[in-house]
Amino acid sequence: MNINATTKIYGIFGHPVGHSLSPLMHNSAFEKLNLDCVYVAFDIDPEVLGSATSAIRTFGIRGVNVTIPHKEKIISFLDGISPEATLTGAINTIVNDNGKLTGYNTDVGGFLRAIKDDLEVNPKGLRVFLLGAGGAARAVLTALSMKGAKEIYIINRTLEKAVSLASAFKKHFPQIPIFPYSLDDSQAVGKSIKSSDLLVNATSSGMEGINSINLKLELLPKKSKIYDLVYKPRETGLVKNGKTLGLRASGGLSMLLYQGAESFELWTGENAPIHVMRQAIE
Ligand SMILES: NC(=O)c1ccc[n+]([C@@H]2O[C@H](COP(=O)([O-])OP(=O)(O)OC[C@H]3O[C@@H](n4cnc5c(N)ncnc54)[C@H](OP(=O)(O)O)[C@@H]3O)[C@@H](O)[C@H]2O)c1
Repeated sequence: MNINATTKIYGIFGHPVGHSLSPLMHNSAFEKLNLDCVYVAFDIDPEVLGSATSAIRTFGIRGVNVTIPHKEKIISFLDGISPEATLTGAINTIVNDNGKLTGYNTDVGGFLRAIKDDLEVNPKGLRVFLLGAGGAARAVLTALSMKGAKEIYIINRTLEKAVSLASAFKKHFPQIPIFPYSLDDSQAVGKSIKSSDLLVNATSSGMEGINSINLKLELLPKKSKIYDLVYKPRETGLVKNGKTLGLRASGGLSMLLYQGAESFELWTGENAPIHVMRQAIE
């Protein structure tokens, strides 16, 4: 990589951000396509988020990824956001077009591309068991609703969060039945598992250091598929258990890859070199 006076700057805003795989993924892609660009990580304290966002314009930074804890709060400092970001209520990508900052949520498209690629799943007409009601679940719910899922069960440890997520989406998608349940409601959880074509984990459970949630996967119909957004470890307990039952199951590394690829394409207008980006994060 040859950094010089014309090099375009991209980066990620987070706090903390030292663990992020995005610099590795994007710099490998820039290098592969011989683009005069560099991607760096910015650890931004929440108290200075507004001035940091203004500095994107000041320093002519061309594009920024946004991660925890800024994905929602940063919206008020932007000039506009895309329709899927509006539904999600969070952004993870900013494009700087001559000082005009627009926010996008590439987790939505990243999830859709990941389930298509890994599991050959198109959510249209499917009944989906969605575990979680945080930021990632919102992005998945946006993707499922926009693509015309038939029925969605939102299961969460904190019932109130599932209820408020379901009611927010019912306003936008009145044609899709969305049912919120508590994880403790074993009857509703069992019934929902039995009816689901696709089971998605959008909670942090199963991450290194956090126990997996015990679900009766054997109740899933034989052709159901499982997607776990967690990618550390690469193969979570949920994915392992699903495979043991003979179900197709995949972990979240592909979503990480494809949300990055979509950001890259928004910034550069080039097709993302998926193979190189995948190698970098693997
Ligand atoms: N593959 C990807 O590209 C990708 C993209 C985004 C996120 N993710 C992953 O998705 C996960 C969730 O991220 P997020 O941004 O949505 O976080 P978040 O907004 O903090 O939400 C966390 C969710 O997990 C639930 N949860 C946490 N610990 C739990 C436990 N021990 N048992 C049961 N439920 C638990 C929470 O339930 P309560 O509401 O009850 O607290 C909530 O629904 C993380 O592991 C993240 O790394 C992956």
